[in-house]
Amino acid sequence: MNASADTPLAMLGGLTPAEFLRDFWQQKPLLIRGAFADFECPLDPDELAGLACEEGIEARLVEKHGAKGPWQVSHGPFDERTFARLPERDWSLLVQAVDHYVPEVAELLEAFDFLPRWRLDDIMISYAPPGGSVGPHVDQYDVFLLQGNGQRRWQLGGKVGDDAPIIDGIDLRILERFAVEDDDDWVLEPGDMLYLPPGWSHLGVSQSDDCLTLSVGFRAPSADEAITSFADFLGEQLPPSRRYADAGMVPPADPAELDDDAVARMRGLILETLDDPAQLAQWFGRVMTQPKYVDQLVSSEMPTDPDALVAALQEGEMLVRSPGSRFAWRALDNECATLFADGDGADCSLPLAKALAGNAPLDAQLLDIEGAAQLLAALLDAGSLSWEVETDE
Ligand code: SIN
Ligand code: CO
Repeated sequence: MNASADTPLAMLGGLTPAEFLRDFWQQKPLLIRGAFADFECPLDPDELAGLACEEGIEARLVEKHGAKGPWQVSHGPFDERTFARLPERDWSLLVQAVDHYVPEVAELLEAFDFLPRWRLDDIMISYAPPGGSVGPHVDQYDVFLLQGNGQRRWQLGGKVGDDAPIIDGIDLRILERFAVEDDDDWVLEPGDMLYLPPGWSHLGVSQSDDCLTLSVGFRAPSADEAITSFADFLGEQLPPSRRYADAGMVPPADPAELDDDAVARMRGLILETLDDPAQLAQWFGRVMTQPKYVDQLVSSEMPTDPDALVAALQEGEMLVRSPGSRFAWRALDNECATLFADGDGADCSLPLAKALAGNAPLDAQLLDIEGAAQLLAALLDAGSLSWEVETDE
C-alpha cells in the first residue's frame, strides 16, 4: 500500500484510509473539497474529443435534445463533423478507460492504492458545455467523481432500489423521479471530488464551457455474473462421472414425485462442488484481472526465447506492464503464489508474483528471482507486458 492505512489523506478530506473504508466506502457519499490541490487536468476538451474519434476507444455522446429525440445517445468513433454540428449547450461526451491511453491519467490511479487494485474498473472522462449531463441516474459502481476542469453541479437523491422506475423508450437509464435529498447539492471546482457508493441516485450538470469530470470507477461482479462465471470455470474441470447419485434410496411413494430427498441430494451435489475455496480463489483471481477490452491485448506472433529476454534485460532494456493490463497475486503457501494476469493464472514464487503484480520496475534485477525469465517471456507473449519504448521527451 502506498499510504499507511492510518495516515490522514488530503484526497480523503483528512480521513485516513482506514476511517474512509470503515465509515463511507460502499455506505454513504463523501464530498471532498480540494482533494487534489491545484489539480490540473492531464488533458483538455479537444484532446478528449480526439480520443473519441479513434477506432477502438469506447466513447458516447449524450444529447439532451437530440435530432432523434430527448436524451439521444450515439457511440464513437466520432469525427469532426459530429462536433461541428453540436449546439452550444446540453450535451456530454464520455470517453471510457482514458487511463489506458494517457499515462498521466493512469498515474492518478496510484492515489487510490488504499483500495484493492483488482476492484478498479477504469477512469472515464466526460466533457460537457453548460447544461450537459447524462440525466439523473444510479450506477452499480463505487465512483470517485473528480472535477478536472470548469465546474459541475452535483445533486444527490439518496439511495434507490433496483426497482426504481426509469424513463421508457430512450437509450439511457434515467430515473423517472429524482428529488434532491438533505441539501446534497454542490458545485465542484477543479480538484474537488465526490465519492458515491453504488445505488445512490445522482445528477451532475456542467456549469461552464470547459467542464471535465474524471470518474474513477470500481466494479464488483453481481451474484448473477459470479455464479454463472464460476460455474463455467468449474464445469471445464469436472469429470462427467460427477453427477446426481441416489444409491441406497428407499422406493418412491409415487414415481412422479420429486421428493425432499431428491432435492437434498441435488443440493448436496451443487453445494459440495461449489464449496471449494482453492478453486474459488483461482477463478476469482482470473475473473477480476480480465482485461476490460480483450482486443487491446496484443500477443506475440512468435514465442519469446527466455535467453534472449534475459540478454535484453541485462543490456538495460526494461519491460513495462501494458496499459490496461490487470495483475493480482494470491499466496498458495509461504513460498508459492498464483500470479493472475489479464484473466489467466500462473504459479510461481511468492516474491516474483508480488514484484510483477506491484509497481516494481521490470528490469534485470528481477532475474535474481527463480523462474523470472520464463514467466516474463510468457507474459510478454500474452501481451500483458511489453518492452519499454524510449521517448525523446
Ligand atoms: C458524467 O461525468 O457526466 C457522468 C458521471 C456519472 O454520473 O456517473
Ligand atoms: Co453516474
